[in-house]
Order: sequence, then C-alpha cells, then structure tokens
Amino acid sequence: MSGVSDGTRRQEGLPGLTGLTDESALQNLTDYSPGESGKALDAMRMEVFVEAMTPPGPVHLQELEQEALAEGVPIIRPQTQNLIRFFLAVKRPARILEIGTAVGFSALFMQYYAPADCRITTIEKDPQRAEKARGNFIRYGRKNTCGRAEDIVLLEGDAAQVLGEIREDSSFDLIFMDAAKGQYIRFLPDALRLLSPGGIMITDNILQEGEILTSRFAVTRRNRTIHARMRAYLHALMEEEQLETLLLPTGDGAAVSLKR
Ligand SMILES: C[S@@+](CC[C@H](N)C(=O)[O-])C[C@H]1O[C@@H](n2cnc3c(N)ncnc32)[C@H](O)[C@@H]1O
Repeated sequence: MSGVSDGTRRQEGLPGLTGLTDESALQNLTDYSPGESGKALDAMRMEVFVEAMTPPGPVHLQELEQEALAEGVPIIRPQTQNLIRFFLAVKRPARILEIGTAVGFSALFMQYYAPADCRITTIEKDPQRAEKARGNFIRYGRKNTCGRAEDIVLLEGDAAQVLGEIREDSSFDLIFMDAAKGQYIRFLPDALRLLSPGGIMITDNILQEGEILTSRFAVTRRNRTIHARMRAYLHALMEEEQLETLLLPTGDGAAVSLKR
C-alpha cells in the first residue's frame, strides 16, 4: 500500500499484527520463527515487509482505503496495489477496464497512478456499492482545470452482460479483473476481445487464500464449484494462444496476462 500514515494497516490475513507502524512492522518480523505453519507465516511476513517498505500513497487514497476497510468492503491488498502500479508505469495505458468496482478504491488508485489523460471504465453489479463509488469518484477523483471531477465511467450491472455490450474491441490497454472469482471464466472471451494487442490483463485473487493449491478432493463441499471454476480459468489463461500468462503469489495471487 501505499501506506497509511497513522500506522494502521489492512489486517486481512495478518492475525495478531494489529496497529503496526512501518518501522514496528519491520521490527516485528524478527518475532516470527517458522514452525509447522512456517509457510503461512512466511507469506504474512512478506506481506508485512512489503507494506512496510512501500512509501505512503496520497492522503485521499489512504482515507478511502481506511474507510472501505472499516466498512468491510474488500479492496485490493497492498502487494496487489504495488503490482498494478508497476504495470501502470510499464504500460502507460490510455484506457483501462475494471471488472469489480466495489466503492471505487482501485479505480481511483489507477486514476492516480495512470497517465493524466487515461480513461477508466469500471463495472459493478451491486447498486449500493455503485452509488458509493460514484460519490467517491466525485469526492476523490482527479479534477480537470475547471475543477470538475474527470470521469471514471461506471457501468452498473452484471459484467457477464455489460461486457457483451461494450463494442470497442481491442481498445483497452489494461484490464483489471476483480469481481466474483467464480465468474472469471465467463468474462474471459469478452475480456480477450476488448484487450488491445500488447495489452495487459491482471486477474486478482487467483489463489483463493491458498485453497487453489489444494486438491479438489480436499476442498470443502461449499468451495468446490468456485475451486473448479478458478482452476478452469487458470487453465484457460495458460492455454490461450493469444495470451502469455504469468501466475504470481502476490497478495492473494495474481495472474498477469499479455495479449500478443
Ligand atoms: C473485490 S471487490 C472489488 C474491489 C475493487 N476492485 C477495489 O479494489 O477497490 C469485487 C466487486 O465485484 C462486484 N461483482 C461481483 N460479481 C460481479 C459481476 N458479475 N459483475 C459486476 N460486478 C461484480 C462485487 O459486487 C464487488 O463489489
């Protein structure tokens, strides 16, 4: 993250690591020794370390992040923020498509770090979240020289349908997929159609808190469908001839796909 100046941090997945400042977070790393759950602790230590090493972002993003977390709204994790920020710098996209707006944190994050003339389209199906996001775009979004909020276009509805209605083939240089994990496989054909050659697609939460590594026989009944769909999605990404895909353990796992 981009960091939170008062030292409070996202606690998702970091039991016991509450209220750390950047320095104390680094200090705290020495308190852990790998035991039976050494690998889980290593992942936590890595997350804390990366957060502590990352300079704070702008105050408006810090505020919005804290607000979203306090309200229990899931937003991109610090390591994923760094990943997106990196690809925004590499790609310098003119157009971004996001699937899964929530309250607009990642859209505003991308607007802040993308080139000034970058246009963002984002899709959200939950009406209350969409309304909140619209308010946040006005409150925190980039303003033009007349002081008016520059548009982030929010398309409200189920991405499975909305994506099909976007007719601008090959026009998005960066696509960020961050909606219901079980639906990614349904979104893929349209995402491929809309991504420009040389464009990057980042898919978040591919690890499903580590469960994707588990055999399908060991997955709880409740999670079997989503596990199967995510596995199918990852196979589809890896086997798709138009894409070159890298699977990364960043955050809750991210796939980075380049369209040839
Ligand atoms: C993890 S949150 C997105 C977080 C956001 N990208 C951020 O980091 O600030 C996922 C969002 O996707 C939305 N969503 C889930 N399935 C969807 C679908 N089929 N179409 C559109 N939005 C969907 C959910 O309502 C939720 O707000």
